[in-house]
Amino acid sequence: MKELQVALNNDRSYPIYIGAGLLTQAELLTKHIRSKQILIVTNETIAPLYLAKLQTALGGDYQVETVILPDGEQYKTLEYLEKIFDQLLAKKFSRNATLIALGGGVIGDMGGFAAACYQRGIAFIQIPTTLLAQVDSSVGGKTGVNHPLGKNMIGAFYQPQCVIADADVLDTLDDRQLSAGLAEVIKYGLIRDPAFLEWLETNMPKLLARDKDALACAIERSCINKAEVVGEDEFESGVRATLNLGHTFGHAIETGSGYGHYLHGEAVAIGTCFAADLSRRLGWLNDADVNRIIAVFKAANLPATPPKEMTTEQYVDLMAVDKKNVDGKIRVILLEAVGKASLPVNVDLAQLQATLNGYAG
Ligand SMILES: NC(=O)c1ccc[n+]([C@@H]2O[C@H](COP(=O)([O-])OP(=O)(O)OC[C@H]3O[C@@H](n4cnc5c(N)ncnc54)[C@H](O)[C@@H]3O)[C@@H](O)[C@H]2O)c1
Ligand SMILES: [Zn+2]
Repeated sequence: MKELQVALNNDRSYPIYIGAGLLTQAELLTKHIRSKQILIVTNETIAPLYLAKLQTALGGDYQVETVILPDGEQYKTLEYLEKIFDQLLAKKFSRNATLIALGGGVIGDMGGFAAACYQRGIAFIQIPTTLLAQVDSSVGGKTGVNHPLGKNMIGAFYQPQCVIADADVLDTLDDRQLSAGLAEVIKYGLIRDPAFLEWLETNMPKLLARDKDALACAIERSCINKAEVVGEDEFESGVRATLNLGHTFGHAIETGSGYGHYLHGEAVAIGTCFAADLSRRLGWLNDADVNRIIAVFKAANLPATPPKEMTTEQYVDLMAVDKKNVDGKIRVILLEAVGKASLPVNVDLAQLQATLNGYAG
């Protein structure tokens, strides 16, 4: 097992445990639990696979309650968040209770936000079960839900007590979800770790074949990158914004094509190809760089071109409500080089439209 640290101020630092078979290692959990009351939040797909395992590992000493949400990004809403509060209140959970989020990014984001809100904050543990959640969403404390008018628009920064990334749970993940997680893995290489990008280019076939050592290595290196960025800039006043490479475009694609049509990682892959194209227009990348970026996403079985039905106007509209925008200007993260992200750049509308026209139908 590997243990990494997310270093934060005011004693809020926490460990990330990475390895195989961690779900049944109860002591990893119990040392972070403050009272007998535990609420496990999961969904209808993950519950039959892993809930009993986790409950058995916890043993009989705790009051373990569960909330099993329907599966899907479309349920990442205030309405379904309330189901978690209903259960916490019905079971008379106190401020010392612990909420465990067992699932992918949807469950992690919702569980974390519920923990942040319930009695103004209860302890919270992340057990991410998708590659995307293990390398990205479970680390760093961003929690929240979607609103019909925008993704992740209602939320809070709220850090977990620990993150437990068990590589074994990825065995049941389908290929499309595995690839979606790889989009965020590739992102770390592109924004700040060129050696990792090279490693990924070489090892992509192993990752797709679910070679356990290769996966553990990719998870660890991704978490190291994320932990460093979050440790430097927890509340996204600077460098943390670079983690949003491809995301402003990606969110527009997710919203514009209806939540659930594209997986988050797929939309990010397409969005990163947009960002690469725009970076080339600014003279920061050359043709070979852009082709290399498209190739690495394709090697991970990810899409590199967007939905035909979205128009340039739609993109501009959707990007204008993105959280990263200041004063109505569209700001995006671009690449100054392969392996080096820019800080947010105010996009020149003509150049943006040139990029979008190149893609939009
Ligand atoms: N908080 C953050 O910093 C952050 C970062 C990136 C993404 N996100 C959010 O994360 C969400 C996407 O997360 P995701 O990609 O994990 O999606 P997800 O949570 O919807 O999980 C994907 C699918 O895989 C299933 N699943 C999960 N684990 C499984 C397993 N081990 N075996 C079989 N099936 C399994 C889920 O039930 C679901 O159907 C989005 O809502 C996005 O906004 C948050
Ligand atoms: Zn993301």
